[in-house]
Amino acid sequence: MTGLERIVFGAVGPWLAATLMGCGSKQVRVHIADRDTGRTLFETHCAGCHLNEGQWMRGEAPPLEGSAWVAGPESHLIRIVLHGLRGPIEVAGKPYNQEMPGFGPILTDERIASLITHLRERFVQNPTSPVLPEVVGRIRASAPDRTNYWTVDELLKQP
Ligand code: HEC
Repeated sequence: MTGLERIVFGAVGPWLAATLMGCGSKQVRVHIADRDTGRTLFETHCAGCHLNEGQWMRGEAPPLEGSAWVAGPESHLIRIVLHGLRGPIEVAGKPYNQEMPGFGPILTDERIASLITHLRERFVQNPTSPVLPEVVGRIRASAPDRTNYWTVDELLKQP
């Protein structure tokens, strides 16, 4: 490869891997496409409310960095993303009482798994292993008709 070819391939490589997902081995998918997808999904669906880097912001959503909810059990995090959250919650020592919509209806298990994997790698110092789509699927299937947002009280009663 010439230097230029290498640069071009470096840029389209991850995209190519994502496009060929159906043909590629599972490992390629997890290592390349998944992480890129997670980042893109996070920027698209979460950053607008949750990231406040001195920019204009839509709400006063609690931080994800330093949040025990992000570092805590993956099942809680998956439920929050699937079905949403409302009511009193304490994050990094500060109380909040607002609402967050759920993303279960618009994101597949696989996408939610990549998104949460990215979330942990980005905001938790010693992230645990990647979140698997099968686990998201199992939790989704445990509450197939749920349309209500979770409250913290309810969440803490879940396994
Ligand atoms: C419309 C704004 C909005 C969007 C979009 C949004 N959230 Fe939230 N999120 C909130 C609010 C507000 C709360 C606090 C809810 C409460 O007070 O009960 C929250 C709470 C949380 C919490 C628990 C508290 C914390 O800060 O750790 C997590 C985790 C979370 N959101 C993750 C996400 C993820 C992941 C996405 C993208 C899939 C997302 N949110 C998209 C507004 C939003």
